[in-house]
Amino acid sequence: MRLLVSGGAGFIGSEFVRQTISNHPEDRVVVLDKLTYAGNVRNLDPVAQSANYRFVEGDICDGTLVAELVRDVDAIVNFAAESHVDRSLEAPGQFIQTDVFGTYVLLEAARASGVERFLQVSTDEVYGDVEEGSSTEHDPLRPRSPYSASKAGGEMMVWAYRASYSLPVITTRGSNTYGPYQYPEKIIPLFITNAIDDQLLPIYGDGSAVRDYIHVADHARGIDTALRQGTAGQDYNVGYGGATSGGEVADLVLGALDKPASLKQHVRDRLGHDRRYSVNSDRLRGLGWRPLVPLDHGLRETVQWYRENEQWWRPLKSGEFWEFYRRNYKPLQADAAQGL
Ligand code: NAD
Ligand code: TYD
Repeated sequence: MRLLVSGGAGFIGSEFVRQTISNHPEDRVVVLDKLTYAGNVRNLDPVAQSANYRFVEGDICDGTLVAELVRDVDAIVNFAAESHVDRSLEAPGQFIQTDVFGTYVLLEAARASGVERFLQVSTDEVYGDVEEGSSTEHDPLRPRSPYSASKAGGEMMVWAYRASYSLPVITTRGSNTYGPYQYPEKIIPLFITNAIDDQLLPIYGDGSAVRDYIHVADHARGIDTALRQGTAGQDYNVGYGGATSGGEVADLVLGALDKPASLKQHVRDRLGHDRRYSVNSDRLRGLGWRPLVPLDHGLRETVQWYRENEQWWRPLKSGEFWEFYRRNYKPLQADAAQGL
């Protein structure tokens, strides 16, 4: 297969590319990535010398570039997105641009060139807050943040191209993902790197909102399974099947690093904070996939990776990172002061 992997220099995309080059040496992979603050071409160092890999720096919103690249591929796997909820709450515009408009540009190029597969990497957050039970692929999308609304918008463009032009599309909806090479703004790498430096771990609200954390290797294998064995036109949930609160993540990270509980700091809750996500992944399991990395093991390994790869993350925690950090996290007392 000749693949165009957009957003392949990010966290999950680069894992997918590393796995593809190693497991399918007959494939050819072109990565298209804009290298935003979250993209890092060094994530692809392990495959940089492979003859069947090529990196192109560029924007999925650039129709001319995308059309040129899509001409020579059998499949598109779209990871490219703005992906952090807190940033979407501050400035939604770029999320709509990349996650909706950018998806449209890729779909349009796919339609023109007639690719065999278009896989859209989406998220379980499109189902919105799930009070009880687990979302199946038949459930309605009820996104509640600018990020999840943009991802749902991207999905709807994908559905439109399936219905209108019979484009062979597949969508995956993965749950919260963790592992090596994750930009240290999401909860797990943020808490690990803060704890290494004896800095406080900012827990939103009472810390009881839960997520279903899946290891990046399992998520990327799930996407590969859907790509190669999935049925065109189908959506596939990709989850681990757990429920871990923010407070528990803090305890697990502090435990793994042997750091004191006094590093936990409750901060003002995220606006519109979704309390719970949970997906049923039976459809993907029906294709033979299942998660292989137990959460406690995966977390310890991830902690170890961040300990051993400070040269990867330290440069990322500077300048703009701390400016956003200071704007984003507010002490709990601010709630009381504003009578919230
Ligand atoms: P990430 O932020 O680490 O990576 C996104 C990548 O896309 C970066 O390399 C960035 O440079 C690139 N990019 C952004 N805008 C672009 C543009 N306009 N053109 C080209 N490239 C662009 O994100 P991630 O965590 O690896 O997530 C990848 C995908 O998986 C996203 O679509 C996200 O919505 C989805 N997802 C993520 C999670 C998670 O927990 N991280 C869970 C489920 C689904
Ligand atoms: P996050 O990693 O941002 O993923 P998402 O919001 O896309 O699910 O957040 C995961 C959970 O952790 C969510 O309930 C919010 C919480 N959280 C904190 O408590 N503190 C933090 O600093 C961050 C980033 C998240």
